[in-house]
Amino acid sequence: MESRKVRVAIAGVGNCALSLLQGISYYRAQGTHGNQVGLMHYDIGGLTPGDIEVVCAFDIDVRKVGKPLGEAAKAKPNCTTMFFDNLAFCQAEVFMGPMFDGYSPLMDAYPEDERFLVADLEPVDVGKVLQEKDVEILISYLPVGADQATRYYASQCLKTGVSLINCIPSFVVSDPEWYNRFDRAGIPIIGDDVKSQVGATIVHRALSALLGERGAKIRRTYQLNVGGNTDFMNMLDRTRLKFKKISKTEAVVSTIEGEIESRNVHIGPSDYVPWQRDNKVCFLRIEAEGFLGAPIELELRLSVEDSPNSGGVIVDAIRFLKLARERGQSGPLYPACAYFMKRPPVQMDEKEARGKLEAFLQGSIKEKGCQ
Ligand SMILES: NC(=O)c1ccc[n+]([C@@H]2O[C@H](COP(=O)([O-])OP(=O)(O)OC[C@H]3O[C@@H](n4cnc5c(N)ncnc54)[C@H](O)[C@@H]3O)[C@@H](O)[C@H]2O)c1
Repeated sequence: MESRKVRVAIAGVGNCALSLLQGISYYRAQGTHGNQVGLMHYDIGGLTPGDIEVVCAFDIDVRKVGKPLGEAAKAKPNCTTMFFDNLAFCQAEVFMGPMFDGYSPLMDAYPEDERFLVADLEPVDVGKVLQEKDVEILISYLPVGADQATRYYASQCLKTGVSLINCIPSFVVSDPEWYNRFDRAGIPIIGDDVKSQVGATIVHRALSALLGERGAKIRRTYQLNVGGNTDFMNMLDRTRLKFKKISKTEAVVSTIEGEIESRNVHIGPSDYVPWQRDNKVCFLRIEAEGFLGAPIELELRLSVEDSPNSGGVIVDAIRFLKLARERGQSGPLYPACAYFMKRPPVQMDEKEARGKLEAFLQGSIKEKGCQ
């Protein structure tokens, strides 16, 4: 019997896309008995990472549009580390997407090798391509602040019955107006703003929950993040950050016991350091009160390669969504949103979300899994 495949499209062939393609290729090459380290699940309902087929992509960069996907993903300004170089199977075409607010003018000040270079081409009709390529799931890896572009791609998904995985902090899956439309159209979705596999958000959440469980009260906290990829360059444009700050802050504050004044929480992308490339460094500080009000201070430095850290989450999100489609579910897949995303429609702690996801895998949660 021929194995099942998941037919995926990507909007935004940046560093996250490059890491995802490397991951699919690497675990496919490993086969069933090879190295599975780095995966949260090897098998999801009979699907392995190698069963993901990227069948088309959309971008706006002259070095990417019109190229086979594997080649486009390796083009500048992408700079994530190549852990697995063979992307020979990624032959899908990269189409010119509509620009909308995908480009921040602030990028003009930087060398071409480091920033986006917009192609002077007519955009395609995204819905038509999604239909022609028989796409099941569209992953949005657009830049932070591309709110209009996000709404355009989401509307094309709605029109064509395609599921959306929204990796960016433009609120669609967590916005009732939008998720109800997907629900009514019978389309399952996951979003918003991907939570890295082992990144600043999950570590901050785990530490906040730990302090709360042990009776300590968090008084003040910050999380400062620096990196040298286009994601960090783009986020120097503070006008694009409104929803990113909301998403990152909510993800942490939802795990803090009791009230905390908003002025005592500072979480966000902090600076762009070009030589860091795709290495992201997080500096985290928590000040708390323990027994008798005794002070507790915690400082942590976390250094990760940024883009593979989201790839490890998205290979699972894609396969959970495929399963949800096969089971006829619609609207947000709540536990998956809570486990994989910073801004889900319903926040859950990691243990609850993971438990519900496993129950979903076993088939014991048939509905959206929130009840
Ligand atoms: N761990 C992580 O890396 C992580 C975690 C959370 C969220 N994210 C988010 O995921 C998104 C993607 O991250 P990345 O590092 O791959 O970014 P990136 O800057 O490397 O890539 C963005 C890509 O989108 C393209 N683009 C711009 N406008 C477009 C449009 N209108 N249509 C199609 N393509 C367009 C650009 O040319 C570029 O190739 C970002 O919003 C980022 O904040 C990433």
